[in-house]
Amino acid sequence: MSPITILTDYVAKYVTPQELAQAEQETQQAQQTLLGGTGAGNDFLGWLTLPTTIDKQVLQHIKTEAATQAQWSDVIVVIGIGGSYLGARAVIEALQSPFAPMQKGEHPTILFAGHTLSEDYYHHLLQLLDKRDYSIVVVSKSGTTTEPAVAFRILKAHLNYKYGADASKRILVITDENKGALHDIAQREGYHSYIIPDNVGGRFSVLTPVGLLPIAMAGFDIESLLRGAAEMQELCTHTTTLAENPALHYAALRNILYRKGRKVEMLVNFTPSLCYISEWWKQLYGESEGKEGRGILPHSLSFTTDLHSMGQYVQQGERILFESMLTINQAQHSVNVPPQEDNTDGIGYLANRSLTDINAKAQQGTAIAHHNGNVPIIGINIPQIDEYTLGALIYFFEFACGISGYMLGVNPFDQPGVEAYKKNMFALLGKPGYEDYRPQ
Ligand code: PA5
Repeated sequence: MSPITILTDYVAKYVTPQELAQAEQETQQAQQTLLGGTGAGNDFLGWLTLPTTIDKQVLQHIKTEAATQAQWSDVIVVIGIGGSYLGARAVIEALQSPFAPMQKGEHPTILFAGHTLSEDYYHHLLQLLDKRDYSIVVVSKSGTTTEPAVAFRILKAHLNYKYGADASKRILVITDENKGALHDIAQREGYHSYIIPDNVGGRFSVLTPVGLLPIAMAGFDIESLLRGAAEMQELCTHTTTLAENPALHYAALRNILYRKGRKVEMLVNFTPSLCYISEWWKQLYGESEGKEGRGILPHSLSFTTDLHSMGQYVQQGERILFESMLTINQAQHSVNVPPQEDNTDGIGYLANRSLTDINAKAQQGTAIAHHNGNVPIIGINIPQIDEYTLGALIYFFEFACGISGYMLGVNPFDQPGVEAYKKNMFALLGKPGYEDYRPQ
């Protein structure tokens, strides 16, 4: 049985049977294009088979590395930006305690850098690292991205100052097999290195060492993650109907809604632990589809928190929205509302009820209200949050993204627009080779 179920109760009235039948055919064509490798961006399809083809030796190295680094580091700083950190962060934050950075646990605490140029961020990070034993994992496919390169230089200098000759055993690199500045540095310095396959783009790289090494270092089961992804790979690649294939179903529904003027998709969750799944998803869909003047704008909300900030807009604002509501059947832990002798707080009717039960009712009430407010809702249901289900969810979203991009008529595997800001920044910073852009 699929670990992902698409629920259509609150979207059915927006979609006719004819539209669904037509979209089903389109998803089937897109599926053939994707699996046959005949579409745009076909040199970046390595992610399709990662769950079942990943080298077992690499997996073993990753697990050994995680255990080794844990012997001398209680913090691991993962340096990367975009696809080089969001997947790892999404899985780690979904699985760990929200208070993990404040606790001393069995495994190292994972922190992130290289995703910002904020001076204050690095000031505070260095202050913390002065007092903690740490290692770094530097991730950059191109090996030339400015933000992680700056962070690497800062932290390498700090490591050298703090640990002297021992610094290099605390530096791990994940980059291209043959090229890029980071690759060259790693070769020269003899840092332990892992490879990002050539045919896997950054935002599709979570099931390579890019995601697997940090996730293993945080103490989570990467084999179970891959097993969940492998089950979804089997389902997504071997079934062809909307009824059987949740990725085709999701891609079909979101494209039907988009064509009816629903230009903004809000990925909604009911637990803050999934906030970085949303950040990862936003990059996956935003970078894959937002081009040539087209594409659904991916947005995200965490309920019930954001019902008290964005709820008003969703209920009554411009009707350009639809929601994809990620729901979970069972929380990992149980907390009940305690009984109390008096009812001065007015919530006596909730006594002895679990927060899962209360959250589920909030979810149902929200879905009914938004549906009544003319917001279509695609339900995406998972049984619980664990490694296996997250692996399945990752593959599901990736596969649906490829299908959706082809339905939209764009190349889902390039990102030409990301370069524009870099040219300007390089010209303004005086990087050699960018002199011609400076006057512009
Ligand atoms: O998905 C992508 O390709 C991007 O988000 C990249 O991951 C991001 O720009 C970082 O690039 P790199 O890994 O080359 O440093």
